[in-house]
Amino acid sequence: MPEIRDIKDADIENKRTLVRVDFDVPIAEGRILDDVRIKAVIPTLELLHESGAAKITLIAHLGRPNGKTVESLRLVPVEARLRELTKVPFEMRENLRFDPREEANDENFAKELAALGDIYVNEAFADSHRAHASIVGVPKFLPSYAGLRFMKEVDKLREAQTPPVGSVAVIGGAKFETKEPLLRNLLSAYSQVLLGGALADDVLKARGMPVGESLVAEVGVPTELAGSERILVPADVYLEEEDDKGSARAAMTGDVRKEERIVDIGPSTAATWAQKISEAPFVLWNGPMGIYEEGYRAGTDALAVALIKGGARAIVGGGDTLAALRSIQDSTLKQGSSRPDLDEIEKSGRIFFSMGGGAMLKYLAEGTLPGLEALTRR
Ligand code: ADP
Ligand code: 3PG
Ligand code: MG
Repeated sequence: MPEIRDIKDADIENKRTLVRVDFDVPIAEGRILDDVRIKAVIPTLELLHESGAAKITLIAHLGRPNGKTVESLRLVPVEARLRELTKVPFEMRENLRFDPREEANDENFAKELAALGDIYVNEAFADSHRAHASIVGVPKFLPSYAGLRFMKEVDKLREAQTPPVGSVAVIGGAKFETKEPLLRNLLSAYSQVLLGGALADDVLKARGMPVGESLVAEVGVPTELAGSERILVPADVYLEEEDDKGSARAAMTGDVRKEERIVDIGPSTAATWAQKISEAPFVLWNGPMGIYEEGYRAGTDALAVALIKGGARAIVGGGDTLAALRSIQDSTLKQGSSRPDLDEIEKSGRIFFSMGGGAMLKYLAEGTLPGLEALTRR
C-alpha cells in the first residue's frame, strides 16, 4: 500500500498552509442545515495552529455553480459558522467553482492557488474523487499532506475492503449504474449484499419479477450480478400508486401491480435484514432502503435501529444515508431513548460515518482516488 503523506509528519512551523476543505453542506435560505462537514476539519486546523503555522488559508467549493458566480452559493455563511466553532485564525477564499478553471484542472489556476501557501493540506476526502485543480493540481507545486480526517477516512475504508468472514453490505439508494462497480467489488469480500432502495428494482426486474412503475435505471443489470445468490433482494415491499400518494400497502415482491411503484422494503424483509445486521461481525451501509424524504422510511429506520442498538462494527456513508439516520424520529427508537447523536456514536469507535458520498463509493470500488494519488506522489 503506498504511503500517503500525513500532516502529522509535516514541518508546519512558520509555514503558510493552504488547506482544501469540503464545505459542500446543505444550505436553505442562508441557513446551514447540517454542519458535520465543517466540524470535521477543526482538529486539523487546531493542529496547524498549535504547530505554529504562519497563516492558514482555506479553499473550498459549494454546490455546482458551473464556473460562474452564483450569489446563493457564496461561502459566507459557512465561513461565519466555522468562526463560531473555532478560535483558530484563518482566511477563506470564495467558492473555487466560481472559476471554470477549478473543474477543468487548469494548471495556471493550480499555480495561483499554490502561491497562497508554502505547504498544502487536503482535508477534503469527500472531494478527492474529482481531478480538479484544488485537489490534484496544487500538489504538483507544493509539499502536500493529507489532513487528520482524510487519513481516518482512508484507514476506515481500507478496513471495509477486507472485512471479516460473514460480513454484510447493505446497499440502497438510486442510480444502479453509479453503484454497479461497487457491487461487483463487494461481492468478492462480503458474504451477503442486502440490496434495497431503487437498486433492488433493477435486480428484481432482471430476475423477471414485476416492478410496475418503480424507478429503474436506463442500463441493464449484468448477468453476474442478476444471477448472484449472494445479492439478496426484498421478499416483500411497500407499494404506492401514482394517483394515490401516501397510502402505501405492503405486499410480496411478486405481487407488484403494473400501476404501482416500490417505495420501501417491506416489514418482513426489514425484520429479517435487521436480524442479519445484528448478527454480522461487520456491516458496510450505503443508500437508504426507501424514499425516506417522502416518509417511506420504515425499512431504513429498522436497519438503523438494528445497527445502533446492536453490536456490529460498521461503516456508514452517503449524503442521503446519513441524512436519513440523523432524522430518525424519537418514536422509532423505543424505550425512551432519544434521537441518535451520530458524533457520540462515532466517538465510541464502533460505527464510522464516512464524510464521502461519491468519494466513498469510488474508493471502495477502485481502492484509490485521484486526490489520494496526488498525496502519494514522490
Ligand atoms: P447516498 O446519497 O446515501 O449515496 P443515493 O443518492 O444513492 O444515496 O440514494 C438516495 C435516493 O434514493 C433518495 O433520494 C431516495 O429517495 C432514493 N430511493 C431510495 N429507495 C427508492 C425507491 N424504492 N424508489 C425510488 N427512489 C428511491
Ligand atoms: C459531495 O458532496 O459528495 C462532494 O462535495 C462532491 O461534490 P460534487 O459531486 O459536486 O463534486
Ligand atoms: Mg445522494
